[in-house]
Amino acid sequence: MQYTMRWLSDASKSMNTAAIHIVILAAGKGSRMQSSRHKVLQLLAGQPLLAHVVATARSLHPAAIHCVIGTDGAVIRKAMDDSAIQWVEQREKLGTGHAVAQAMPGIPESAQMLVLYGDTPLCSRADLQALLQQSTEQLAVLGMELDDPTGYGRLLCDGEGLRAIIEEKDADDNERAIHRVNTGIMAGPATVFRQCETLQRNNAQQEAYLTDLVAIERQAGRPVNLVMAVDASLCQGCNTPQELQKLERIFQQRQAESLMARGVRLADASRVDIRGSIETGRDVELDINVILQGHCRLGDGVRIGAGCVLNNVTVESGVTILPYSVLENCHVGAESTIGPFARIRPGTQLAGHNKVGNFVELKNARVGQGSKINHLSYVGDTHMGRQVNVGAGTITCNYDGANKHVTVIGDDVFIGSNTALVAPMEVGDGATIGAGSTLSKDVEAGTLAVERAPARTIRGWKRPRKPRH
Ligand code: UD1
Ligand code: CA
Repeated sequence: MQYTMRWLSDASKSMNTAAIHIVILAAGKGSRMQSSRHKVLQLLAGQPLLAHVVATARSLHPAAIHCVIGTDGAVIRKAMDDSAIQWVEQREKLGTGHAVAQAMPGIPESAQMLVLYGDTPLCSRADLQALLQQSTEQLAVLGMELDDPTGYGRLLCDGEGLRAIIEEKDADDNERAIHRVNTGIMAGPATVFRQCETLQRNNAQQEAYLTDLVAIERQAGRPVNLVMAVDASLCQGCNTPQELQKLERIFQQRQAESLMARGVRLADASRVDIRGSIETGRDVELDINVILQGHCRLGDGVRIGAGCVLNNVTVESGVTILPYSVLENCHVGAESTIGPFARIRPGTQLAGHNKVGNFVELKNARVGQGSKINHLSYVGDTHMGRQVNVGAGTITCNYDGANKHVTVIGDDVFIGSNTALVAPMEVGDGATIGAGSTLSKDVEAGTLAVERAPARTIRGWKRPRKPRH
C-alpha cells in the first residue's frame, strides 16, 4: 500500500498538466516515390504510413491530433476516414515551419506541442515520451546519430546544448561532416511554436524552416533540449521506394522478434510478414513466406506451411495448414488439416476435425465436425453436417446466372466423385450419391441417388489408328 502511494506521488510530480497537441506534417508531394499514390498513403505492413504515425500519436493520449495536408489532401482524408483528426490545409508548400504555422490557430496557448512527420512511420513511443518529458518548459529536438547523415539537418551544439540546426543545403563542409542529425521531430510549449508564424525564408530553399526555432530560442536566451533517439533506424523517413522497403523490413523484423519472444517458432524471421495484428497460443509454427493480414488468431499448436496467406482468420488449436493455402475471413475449427493448395473464402466456418485438401475452394460454407472435402471441389453457400465425405470433383452449383442458392447436406452423407449438386437442393442424413451424378432435386435421407446414362457396349468396335509409314 505504501509502495503504491509513493509511486503515485512520484508520478504526479513529473506529470505534465498541459494538454498535448500533436501536429503531423503530411503536405509534402513525395515526388521521389514516383507513384500516383500520395506519399503518406504508401503502405507499410498493409497500412498507410500516416496510419502508423496516427496510431503512435494516439498512444500518447493527446488532446488533439492536427494533420497538415496540401490542397491535394482530400484523398488522404478519405483514406484515413478518421473523425478524430483535425485536418489543416497548407495552401502553398513554403516549408516545415510554414506547415506548423497553419495548425497554430487550432492550438491553445497553454498547450504542449509535438510535431511528427507523416512519412516517418516507425518513430518510437518511448522516444516521443522522453521528448515530451524534456519539453514541458522549453523546446526539445529528437536527434539521432547516422553513419551517413546525407540529406538531414545537422545539429550544432555548444557548451549549453543545442545551438542551431543547419540544413544540408545551407551547411558548409565542416557542418556537413557532423553525424548528429535532426529526425525532424520536435516538442515544446505552444508559445515557442507560435513563432513559426513569423519565420524568415532567407535560406537555400527559400522555405520557412521549422528548424530555425532552435536558433531563435537560443538567441532569446532560452535553452533547447536535445534527446537522442534510442534506435536511429526507427526515426528515418521514407522518400523513395528503396527507403520504404527498408522500413518495411525493419518493421517486419521487429514483429518477428516479438513473435519469437512470445514463443512462436519461425523457420526464418526474415521470411514472415505480418500486415495487421495476431494473437498466438503456445507452440505455433510458421514456415517460410507466410503472410498474415488483418487480425488473425492462431491457437495452440497451429502449424502453417510455406507460402500460406491468411487474412482475418481464426485458426483453432491443433490445426495444420499445408503449403500454399489462401484463407480469408473464415474460421478453422480445432484439429483440422487444410491444403496444400486450398482456398477458403469469406464466410466459411469449419467446425473442427475437418480435412480440406488440394485444389478445394470453399466459400460461405458451414462444415460440420469431421467432414472431409479432400480433392478438387467447389463448395459454396452450403450448410454441411457432420462426418460427410465429399468425393473428388464435387461441385455445388450455387449460381443460376442471376441468384445464389443454398445447398444443404445432412450428417453422414457420402458424395461420390464428380457430382454436381444444383442448388437449391437438400441431401438428407445418411444419403449416398453415386459418382458422376448431376442432381437438382432433394435426396431423401438414407437413400442412394444416382443419375447416370446407361452404359452402351459396342462389340467389335475398332479404335482409330494412325496410318503406318
Ligand atoms: C526536414 C528538416 C531536417 C530533418 C529532416 C528529417 C526542416 C527545415 N528540415 O528536412 O532538419 O533532418 O526533415 O527528415 O524542417 N512538409 C509539409 N509542408 C511543407 C514542407 C514539408 O507538410 O511545406 C512535410 C513533408 O510532407 C514531410 C515533412 O514535412 O512529411 C518534412 O519535409 P521535407 O521536405 O521532407 O523536409 P526535409 O528537407 O527532409
Ligand atoms: Ca524528408
